[in-house]
Amino acid sequence: VQSKAELRRRFEQECGEGFFLDLSDLAALDHHLRELGWIEEDHVESVEPAGEGDMNLTVRVRTARRAFIVKQSRPWVEKHPHIPAPARRAAVEAAFYIATATFPAVSGRMPALLGSDDRSQLLLLEDLGDSQNMMTLYHGDQLTACECSELIGYLSALHAIEVEQPSRGVFRNREMRDLNHAHQYEIPLRGNNGLDLDRLTPGLGDLAAELKFDRAYRFAVADVGRLYLLDGGQLVHGDFFPGSWLRHSRGLYVIDPEFCFLGCPEYDLGILYAHLVFAKQENLWNTMRKRYARDCDWKLAGRFAGAELMHRLIGVAQLPLHAGLQQKRAWLELSRMLLCA
Ligand SMILES: Nc1ncnc2c1ncn2[C@@H]1O[C@H](COP(=O)(O)OP(=O)(O)OP(=O)(O)O)[C@@H](O)[C@H]1O
Ligand SMILES: [Mg+2]
Repeated sequence: VQSKAELRRRFEQECGEGFFLDLSDLAALDHHLRELGWIEEDHVESVEPAGEGDMNLTVRVRTARRAFIVKQSRPWVEKHPHIPAPARRAAVEAAFYIATATFPAVSGRMPALLGSDDRSQLLLLEDLGDSQNMMTLYHGDQLTACECSELIGYLSALHAIEVEQPSRGVFRNREMRDLNHAHQYEIPLRGNNGLDLDRLTPGLGDLAAELKFDRAYRFAVADVGRLYLLDGGQLVHGDFFPGSWLRHSRGLYVIDPEFCFLGCPEYDLGILYAHLVFAKQENLWNTMRKRYARDCDWKLAGRFAGAELMHRLIGVAQLPLHAGLQQKRAWLELSRMLLCA
């Protein structure tokens, strides 16, 4: 375990002069926000975690007059500081908000970006209040018809955006994609990956072993992983699952585009489909498919879904699923069908 002083030193080594967000030092935060011109007459009165999050330090800052969200990406995974993470991901996230700002069908479903400080890897975002993310979908909570059209409407509009040349470079987002690629397509099927799956669900280790020994399956996963890494034409969100959706009184909002990239839209659609499956609401998929306003290789979306099902079940990034071995076996079988059929 690293102390705060050690983390600060690490941050300063890797991010130079940047401002290190320390929740116990309101005066320093007040000073920095003032320097940036983000607050003027008012003062920082409190800071609290904004919600559940692993990668970044995401907090709600309150002054007497308003509240906003401050998100800092540090060169590690916030919940597990021993795991390194690409430090410049906040700048990529900011670029996404900027590139989509003039497309109301996208930006109107996201918090407004109020400012960004690339030197310190900070984002300032509109506060959507204590809207909950939609991880509750895994436990019986249902998407409404309206939310389904909001989700698919968002993706249709996002995937229609033509990103201008000067800002295309940042959306390669290479380091984040490499990180994701390792977790989704490589580590779960690696021989001795050190994951104790039987501790999660007795018998799951054997199911994973079957897949690891299945050459056709391994090949199919590697192949779709290769497609994930290809640079493509369209801006995709890159992490389109219930943890990135917030329920708000004005409807559903999308957050957290730090894994965005220029690639193939089928990726977002496949992730969406996989999580409908985990939420046991795959019956919604047909209607959503019909509502998607663009051409799409649905088979490819299915292959991305197959890999998502697999790594969420036998990889590191586990979800809070209430499911036993039978259910997991059925989902892994679906993964095999989607990837190999
Ligand atoms: N603009 C916002 N308004 C209100 N709440 C927010 C806002 N942005 C984030 N939150 C809350 O903070 C949580 C974490 O935010 P976010 O997903 O952006 O952080 P993260 O560190 O990237 O998380 P993860 O590790 O899950 O990717 C969200 O689930 C939500 O509860
Ligand atoms: Mg995130």
